[in-house]
Amino acid sequence: EAAEKGGFPHYMLKEIYEQPWVLENTLGGRLSEERGEAELGLELDPLSVDRVHLIACGTAAYAGWYGKYLLEGLAKLPADWEVASEYRYRDPVVDGRTLAVAISQSGETIDTLEALREARRKGARALGVVNAKGSSITREVEEVLYIHAGPEIGVASTKAYTAMLAAMALLALWFARARGVLPLEEARTLIREMKKLPRLVEEALEKRPIVAHIAEKYHQAQDFLFLGRHVQAPTAYEGALKLKEISYIHAEAYPAGEMKHGPIALIDEHLPVVVLATKGPLYEKTLSNIQEVRARGGKVIAIATEGDEEIRKLAQDVVYVPEVHPLLSPIVSVVPLQLLAYEVAVLLGRDVDQPRNLAKSVTVE
Ligand code: G6P
Repeated sequence: EAAEKGGFPHYMLKEIYEQPWVLENTLGGRLSEERGEAELGLELDPLSVDRVHLIACGTAAYAGWYGKYLLEGLAKLPADWEVASEYRYRDPVVDGRTLAVAISQSGETIDTLEALREARRKGARALGVVNAKGSSITREVEEVLYIHAGPEIGVASTKAYTAMLAAMALLALWFARARGVLPLEEARTLIREMKKLPRLVEEALEKRPIVAHIAEKYHQAQDFLFLGRHVQAPTAYEGALKLKEISYIHAEAYPAGEMKHGPIALIDEHLPVVVLATKGPLYEKTLSNIQEVRARGGKVIAIATEGDEEIRKLAQDVVYVPEVHPLLSPIVSVVPLQLLAYEVAVLLGRDVDQPRNLAKSVTVE
């Protein structure tokens, strides 16, 4: 087993560190910078799709949420995101021009599979964004976009998540170009940024000592709040989920702009608030959210873009991540959140790879 962990004390840590090459695998051979295209080898006619329904559970569902922002923002394609356990029972409106996208690491999650079946019964076409080759979901869809993350053993998903995000970016780019809504030069810029991702994630991994220091400071906290906006809202939810899953500390996530409608009442000097504050169109708004937290005594841990000095004045702790296209920032920013959950769980003596009450793949309802 020690050999399988490749010298790491836990599978989860090994998998976190595998992310640079995983991203190479997910993106490799699928991007043509010259043509400004994603080459996905799909038979599906992108122009036959009017609407996308992204369905998944857990971590994969947050990848779906991110996918919604990209499909709508880049490809101008209406996209809905929903957890599969709701989708399958709510009588969703679907037709032959709807594409159901089932996102799953294992390809075996029963809720996702049943939600997919429900969409198909109603006439939707289906695409699987899956890691496990030949799994049930891949057998029930017309097309599969494999994320190529390799086997994931740790119950808390890490490398499959970043690979799913990269797959969402590929899919959005593919639709955007086919629909004629993304100019060639913009597509090329995005592709160049996508190609940098493995290296940027490598740099983000180097921040582990800073993250470990933050974990040391806050691992006794009873609760954590995670905030982010736009594409970083799903990142905040994924950061909170990781912490809950493996440390058993209560963590809540909110889109930062919604904080004033409730969670702001929670803020006091005992509450660490992790804020995704990377550079992007909503950066200034996020800074105001940080000020609101500080004014109420909350402790701010900011995930910020390298070189941002302003943020140092506002946040107690800052983890800098390298700059990247704002739409891709979640792929880099989630890395310190994975490491934070890991370091906190280790300090608390938790069973990182086998957290209580959780299963790697949930195949019964
Ligand atoms: C379980 C795991 C989660 C995972 C979810 C969906 O609950 O503990 O880590 O995100 O299932 O799994 P899937 O294999 O469909 O991505």
